[in-house]
Amino acid sequence: MNEDDADRIDRNRRHFLTVATVVTGAVGVGLASIPFLASLRPSARAQALGAPVEVSIGSLEPGEMIRVLWRGRLVFILRRTEEMLSRLPQNLGELKDPNSEVTDQQPDYSANEYRSVKPEYLIVEGSCTHLGCAPLEDFEVRPSENWTGGFYCPCHGSKFDLAGRVYKGVPAPTNLRVPPHRFVRDDLILLGQDTGAA
Ligand code: FES
Repeated sequence: MNEDDADRIDRNRRHFLTVATVVTGAVGVGLASIPFLASLRPSARAQALGAPVEVSIGSLEPGEMIRVLWRGRLVFILRRTEEMLSRLPQNLGELKDPNSEVTDQQPDYSANEYRSVKPEYLIVEGSCTHLGCAPLEDFEVRPSENWTGGFYCPCHGSKFDLAGRVYKGVPAPTNLRVPPHRFVRDDLILLGQDTGAA
């Protein structure tokens, strides 16, 4: 190996180390900024490979929502109260797809009035179906704005109700996507795997 080759290899190695450090740092910041309340079981390597993720929901109180990562995607798990569930039929005429007829957006077992396996637990990807921004939760009722609570995407103003159903007149074309999942126990969800019947 001549001196030029050795120098080039050394420069390439330094470049690789720099890139690796930046990526690791970026991942660290991203994870740290998400308020995880759930415990996630699999290793980081398993998650990166897209393995199913167990999410403990035993400490999730009615009205609370947690965010978890699955396959690098943000997933919202909202435990809806009875009062929240009672709001779901109120704005049906203003929704684009109130009956979950766009079949790509949820498994069959979530194509119901709650868009969920168990009515109280809404599980949707936190990715706006317009261009993929993360919607913000806004669960308060504001009759003056005809708002019964749900999710608001600040990027271009798309709105979704408490079942992740998109409103008419906004850029997002479809409801928030329900990922495959199933309940292992009442307090444990397996995200990313189902039996076809949850
Ligand atoms: S990305 Fe959400 S409205 Fe455009």
